[in-house]
Amino acid sequence: MSRGAVRIAPSILACDFARLGEELSAVEAAGADWIHVDVMDGHFVPNLTLGPPIVEAVRRATNLPLDVHLMIEAPERSIPDYVKAGADTVGVHAETCPHLHRTVGQIRETGARACVVLNPSTPAQALEGVLGELDQVLLMTVNPGFGGQRFIESVLPKLETIRGWIDERDLNVALEVDGGIAAGTVGRASRAGADVFVAGTAVFGAEDYAAGIAALRREAEEAV
Ligand code: DX5
Ligand code: ZN
Repeated sequence: MSRGAVRIAPSILACDFARLGEELSAVEAAGADWIHVDVMDGHFVPNLTLGPPIVEAVRRATNLPLDVHLMIEAPERSIPDYVKAGADTVGVHAETCPHLHRTVGQIRETGARACVVLNPSTPAQALEGVLGELDQVLLMTVNPGFGGQRFIESVLPKLETIRGWIDERDLNVALEVDGGIAAGTVGRASRAGADVFVAGTAVFGAEDYAAGIAALRREAEEAV
């Protein structure tokens, strides 16, 4: 499979949580493809955000697919809860999964799309043995924990490497980037092989969400 159509996934971490339902309707109307939901446990990452009840509330407020990014230790304990709450894709960090192959199998058994996430300092080789079982790979382009950080350029060669593996093996695996995605970086990530782009600040910080999403999409498409 060659790369898929460009998809823009606004991260609700940057939205106004007091107006969560309205914010979700607004990005849906503005052309978002997926909703990215950042779950942080205060252990694997320093920040603490939300759990299954909020994912369930997000599920009721939008028809878009939910891309749930678990930045939590021992994700195998709560994967079924997130799927029950409405996750379409479940992303687990390789750094939190000593039995990664088993955890990927656990996600697939629930019927959700399985995604493995790598921190900027985790090598591509961490995907060996599971790449063929995945629906998606997410490469962090910041160190996870907070929105609004600067894009880490040194992730680009890893993106190219994994794009090469997906194409050589003709796999149907989406390749996503998350962190510091904005004008200027979205095109570079796209050229290096990404086809799904998470953006918090660049969408929810824009005056006009539709213009913000369209600008990201245009730059990503033109870079290919
Ligand atoms: C970071 C989160 C990201 C974050 C992106 O740990 O995984 O999804 O919300 O925010 P921006 O786009 O502002 O870098
Ligand atoms: Zn994220």
